[in-house]
Amino acid sequence: MQEGLFPKINPHLWGDVVISTETAGREAREAGITPSERFQFLLIHGLLHLIGYDHEVSRSEARRMESKTREIMARIIADKKEESRMQIPRLAVNVDHVATVRQARMINEPDPVIAAGIAELAGAEGIIVHLREDRRHIQDRDLLVLKETVKSKLNLEMAAAEEIIRMALKVRPHLVTLVPEKRQELTTEGGLDVRRQQQALKETIKRLHKGGMAVSLFVDADPEQIRAAKEAGADIIELHTGHYAEAKNEKKAWQLLERIKTGAQLGSQLGLKISAGHGLNYLNIKRFQGLEEIEEYSIGHSIIARALYVGLDQAVREMVALVEQLY
Ligand code: PXP
Repeated sequence: MQEGLFPKINPHLWGDVVISTETAGREAREAGITPSERFQFLLIHGLLHLIGYDHEVSRSEARRMESKTREIMARIIADKKEESRMQIPRLAVNVDHVATVRQARMINEPDPVIAAGIAELAGAEGIIVHLREDRRHIQDRDLLVLKETVKSKLNLEMAAAEEIIRMALKVRPHLVTLVPEKRQELTTEGGLDVRRQQQALKETIKRLHKGGMAVSLFVDADPEQIRAAKEAGADIIELHTGHYAEAKNEKKAWQLLERIKTGAQLGSQLGLKISAGHGLNYLNIKRFQGLEEIEEYSIGHSIIARALYVGLDQAVREMVALVEQLY
């Protein structure tokens, strides 16, 4: 670039790095890594040459260059992991109840995988499925296929049960939300009692982190539980909005909302990301206006129910618009 017709196009040019993609691809295959990992290594190697490192000068210089390369690679990997762990969407759509309709006949439609695709095209920034131990709606196959097809963020809701933890470690969704689960319940009834099972949750969170997943804990807006979630190592808390959604009158609803707000502020001060969900619909979501600490809403039943009348695309678009208005 310092030769030819425009040699002075950039007087500060240090040089250029040329990487043979064919060679990088071959070396990646030989080393059992991805082509982009090898490419990244070669790019760092080239840039280090440009700033004066040269492994050909001496053995000690070669070691210095190698250790600098490793240091930079490790930093990039850590940054990327942290970035992807910490990103959470505004509206994540739970498609469990598409599977509920399918399981009513035990056939293969409607398919939650197709529903997830439609929801994403309509603006959902995340897809949630709850793989229950009793497999009443979402099946293992759904999770496996969604892992391949979801383009936004896949959030696996699950009980901290060994069988399901192993499934999560195998599939590795972007995010795992741990919820309490009882066989007889119609849907998740309350938040986790994190304080009571803190040690076990800590272990589970550690395992899931090792698998590269961010972990959210579904809790009531109770300061004690929120602090326990932080201590257990959670990245995110999902505040339970079910009691608010079921409030019998306006006064009670506002009281419960105030509690959620205080919980969100506390969680945020503790350095947790905050999401909220359960029982939210096209009307009761509006009161969340201005609760900036809440970064994500996790909504399922009301969207799928509305989809029966207006279609899933429109039902999701309407909710996306409502959620956007909250900020
Ligand atoms: N968040 C959690 C933790 C849940 O268990 C559920 C229900 O599966 C939801 C959010 C979504 O609730 P709903 O279907 O009432 O919108």
